Amino acid sequence: MIIKKKKGNKNFKGKRMLTKAQNINLFWAYDKKEANSKQKLILLDNVQFIYELALAQLELQSLGANFQLTNSLRAFKLLNSANIYEICKKAAYFKAVLGRYTDYFKIIQKNRTRSVNQYLTHWIYPYKGKFHPQMIRALLNIIGLKQGDTVLDPFIGSGTTAVEAQLLGINCIGIDISPLCILQSKAKVESIEVLDEIIKTKDWV
Ligand SMILES: C[S@@+](CC[C@H](N)C(=O)[O-])C[C@H]1O[C@@H](n2cnc3c(N)ncnc32)[C@H](O)[C@@H]1O
Repeated sequence: MIIKKKKGNKNFKGKRMLTKAQNINLFWAYDKKEANSKQKLILLDNVQFIYELALAQLELQSLGANFQLTNSLRAFKLLNSANIYEICKKAAYFKAVLGRYTDYFKIIQKNRTRSVNQYLTHWIYPYKGKFHPQMIRALLNIIGLKQGDTVLDPFIGSGTTAVEAQLLGINCIGIDISPLCILQSKAKVESIEVLDEIIKTKDWV
């Protein structure tokens, strides 16, 4: 269910979460020459399943891009002057767009494990039935939700939709029969408000 709201919320929590991420230059393991290619949209290295390639195309279309696909659906070439800024801010399956790294690529540098799903607060509880966060980010884009809109997840589980919505400035209403799921979902999105306090307390302890 999608509830559309007209006015955007400028200072959304996800934006503040992103500003806390470290500078991309600190991550030496990535080949910046590749991202500097002026030709292409570059897929993230972990994108391998057919459904992911299909979602990558759908989200590009929903972000207004007209593109050509070659090399077994992995090489994208932009054909129009789509809103590069918008694609960099929102896309889930791309590493770089015309030489500019995407927000998602920067976020996954903060993975807590070797899995690409364990960034920001997604990792804090090992919930077995959780969605793949990257897929949720793509679906939020594909259904056309914008900053200030609201999404309802009636089976919120571990809060994957809530965290991804937060990152895109989308409000989220989550429902679950399990109090543990409600608790972990709240902890994942509200922790940003107390992060500085946690860091201070940790140093003091
Ligand atoms: C597969 S999990 C959802 C996982 C979630 N997409 C995520 O990424 O973490 C399904 C959830 O539905 C909840 N659930 C099952 N029946 C329910 C009901 N009747 N009302 C509300 N929640 C329910 C369960 O407690 C469980 O957390």
